[in-house]
Amino acid sequence: MSISIDNLIETIRKEAEKHYSDDPSHDWLHAERVCRMCMRICEKEGGDPKVLVAAALLHDVGVRYELEQGVDHSEKSVEIAEEILPRIGFPKDKISMVLEAISMHRFRKGVRAVSIESRILQDADRLDAMGAIGVARTFSHGGRRGIPMYSSSRDTGSTVDHFYEKLLKLKNSLNTETARRIAEERHAFMEMFLSRFLKEIEGEA
Ligand SMILES: [Fe+2]
Ligand SMILES: [Fe+2]
Repeated sequence: MSISIDNLIETIRKEAEKHYSDDPSHDWLHAERVCRMCMRICEKEGGDPKVLVAAALLHDVGVRYELEQGVDHSEKSVEIAEEILPRIGFPKDKISMVLEAISMHRFRKGVRAVSIESRILQDADRLDAMGAIGVARTFSHGGRRGIPMYSSSRDTGSTVDHFYEKLLKLKNSLNTETARRIAEERHAFMEMFLSRFLKEIEGEA
């Protein structure tokens, strides 16, 4: 008997939720959003839905250990997934596909994903850094680390700088046509937010 998608989500939640960081920018809710977006992209682009569900729900399970121990979180997530998946009866022949997608998801690695599941997970993870969710996550992340929202000198690594250094470049880093389409509106929203935010800072709006 093969496990249904709903059962798979519930089973992984029971195993993975406890590992997730309580940092709102990388918590279990982020994993759930990335999972939903993977399913949406998968409907148009193909790929194995079960591989995507498992990879999405487990991709950032190692973040807490990166924060606590300085290990690379994608490698730690692979390690945890490798332990969980065989134990919950996940199809053995698909485990390596899940691990590959998790290992490739990280933006900073700058590697181009090859398998369709890796490409979709990268896209879904990047889309979650864009739009209104992206704005909320970025300020939440910055606030937790004591980073100023903006700087008067434009050179101190403020949260606003992070938009220009990373988030506004994301739309050009996507793998699939479906994600590129979804990204357009999210990108436009961030630009609109920033222009309004900068005006309010100056007291002009
Ligand atoms: Fe990550
Ligand atoms: Fe992520």
